[in-house]
Amino acid sequence: MTDIPMIRMASVDKHFGELHVLRDIDLEVARGQVVVVLGPSGSGKSTLCRTINRLEPIDSGTIEVDGQALPAEGKGLAALRADVGMVFQSFNLFAHKTILENVTLGPIKVRKSGKDEAEKNGMALLERVGIANQKDKHPAQLSGGQQQRAAIARALAMKPKVMLFDEPTSALDPEMVQEVLDVMTTLAKEGMTMLVVTHEMGFARRAAHRVVFMSDGEIVEDATPDTFFSNPASDRAKDFLGKILTH
Ligand SMILES: Nc1ncnc2c1ncn2[C@@H]1O[C@H](COP(=O)(O)OP(=O)(O)OP(=O)(O)O)[C@@H](O)[C@H]1O
Ligand SMILES: [Mg+2]
Repeated sequence: MTDIPMIRMASVDKHFGELHVLRDIDLEVARGQVVVVLGPSGSGKSTLCRTINRLEPIDSGTIEVDGQALPAEGKGLAALRADVGMVFQSFNLFAHKTILENVTLGPIKVRKSGKDEAEKNGMALLERVGIANQKDKHPAQLSGGQQQRAAIARALAMKPKVMLFDEPTSALDPEMVQEVLDVMTTLAKEGMTMLVVTHEMGFARRAAHRVVFMSDGEIVEDATPDTFFSNPASDRAKDFLGKILTH
């Protein structure tokens, strides 16, 4: 039972028109594993993330979350989306709702929680990400780092099986990056299954079990962070590391 991968992609292909953005992707992420996805701009990292909760349809292949194939549409898809939390570069909070309402809306509407229970869980999550005292504010009244932590709390409120992060710190001022990475590191240590697209190499080294390197829609390397950073196998990875590590 527990050897079913939490995420399984097999022979996944996707095009945008003529552009072949995902090429024969095979990727399994075990329960509790943290995988960091690296690669140059345009290599398909965001598209990969978005196919996992079907924000983007695929042309062919299979994607399963916790042993269940992605349903095409309808109730099954809504349930699956709830199982796969996603945090984007832009915070995507509901601007006209308070922070607490942002965190309770999904559980009430999709998980059918009662309001009291949703608020109790929501407050516990806001405590956990360190912004309980911001609960009655609206997103625009928070710093970028606080908004991103609220976005993480909102995703966690759905009790997801998997969390996908697509460059969650890229839009933040430098002094706010660490507070978001700290929340993610704690989540990783607690055993959450995570797929993280990031340029934060420190996080990749410390928190990732595996690094997946993409280039031109392909997975070119899949290695431990130690191996990937000290001994990349491909020229494409060497070239990529040369560019980012000299910045
Ligand atoms: N909706 C779309 N329609 C057409 N082409 C798209 C669409 N979304 C992405 N692409 C193209 O698909 C390729 C992969 O894009 P993707 O956003 O997945 O790359 P990425 O690795 O996340 O890049 P970045 O590091 O810049 O975020 C790019 O060439 C991009 O221009
Ligand atoms: Mg991207």
